[in-house]
Amino acid sequence: MIQLHDVNKSYNGTQVLKNINLSINAGEIFGIIGLSGAGKSTLLRLLNALENTSSGNILINNQDITKLSAKELRLKRQKIGMIFQNFNLLSSRNVEENIAFPLEIQGIGKADIKTRVAELINLVNLGGKEKQYPSQLSGGQKQRVGIARALASHPNILLCDEATSALDPANTSSILKLIKEIQAKTNLTVVLITHEMDVIKEVCHRVAILDKGEIVEMGDVDYVFAHPREQITKELVIKGYEREEDDNIVELSNTYKNGKFVKLYYGKKSIKDALISELALKFNLKMSIIEAYVETLDGQADGVITAYIDQENKLSTEILEFIKSKNIKIEIIDN
Ligand SMILES: Nc1ncnc2c1ncn2[C@@H]1O[C@H](COP(=O)(O)OP(=O)(O)O)[C@@H](O)[C@H]1O
Ligand SMILES: [Mg+2]
Repeated sequence: MIQLHDVNKSYNGTQVLKNINLSINAGEIFGIIGLSGAGKSTLLRLLNALENTSSGNILINNQDITKLSAKELRLKRQKIGMIFQNFNLLSSRNVEENIAFPLEIQGIGKADIKTRVAELINLVNLGGKEKQYPSQLSGGQKQRVGIARALASHPNILLCDEATSALDPANTSSILKLIKEIQAKTNLTVVLITHEMDVIKEVCHRVAILDKGEIVEMGDVDYVFAHPREQITKELVIKGYEREEDDNIVELSNTYKNGKFVKLYYGKKSIKDALISELALKFNLKMSIIEAYVETLDGQADGVITAYIDQENKLSTEILEFIKSKNIKIEIIDN
């Protein structure tokens, strides 16, 4: 459905995307993850030709969009829907008027618009909200309007630029669920970009990791995250993990106010280094392990342990020095 061949993009001599080669299948939910500034939004804008490539070709449904006339491009874009982090709704139009907007621009008749809008309202579960204005809606509801509007002219591709980044976890889940449902129902091809690893894990079939304008890793989501090859991928995996973990600690620290929560970051380490036992034997330090997360690479462990140290156990300078000598980073969490 989407093919990129040796795509490069520069702004004022600065290369933002480097030699991107990518092939996205029809009916696939394809994720692109990367840190801020990696070039994700630029890549997405190239896919609907909101920006032009500096070199290379982009084929959508076997048609090279870098070679289309303005008129051909307008028609092509109707088949590519897009949703945004900040929803981009028109504040002066209510829900049904926002959804109708792209259809009005296309010159579709009033009666047809009415029918289609009703279908879309139903699809995104916004029944009863037709006459409300964006300011009266929650973030999740606004994004539902965004999705309905993006799907108005039956596109076969949906581009999502950080579509859940402004939403709380509950709304994020419900929007992702909706995208998944619609995709399954309509065999839509979805390209979803995000800096959040949870989002990729929840909905995507395949993922590409974009780092400083280059695709450094690509494959099935489960495989890539279970066997991260590149440093950046490992960081994204661990960061995703840390976030969930931090929520747990916040909850626990309300109950256990007197002790200290610590995190021990293992770099590449042999699992024979029995740090926690050594701390117990050498310093009589008692630690309760709350959570542990380990990735292995080339027979080495790489991960984080979260532990609780009770009040009567003191983390002396000697202990901290010992941990440091083992090449383990310790972080004491304020609670
Ligand atoms: N219109 C533009 N003009 C100049 N530089 C831009 C423009 N759009 C993006 N950039 C630069 O390209 C890089 C990638 O940006 P972007 O695609 O927005 O990254 P991401 O979406 O991954 O955060 C950044 O360094 C950004 O400053
Ligand atoms: Mg962006």
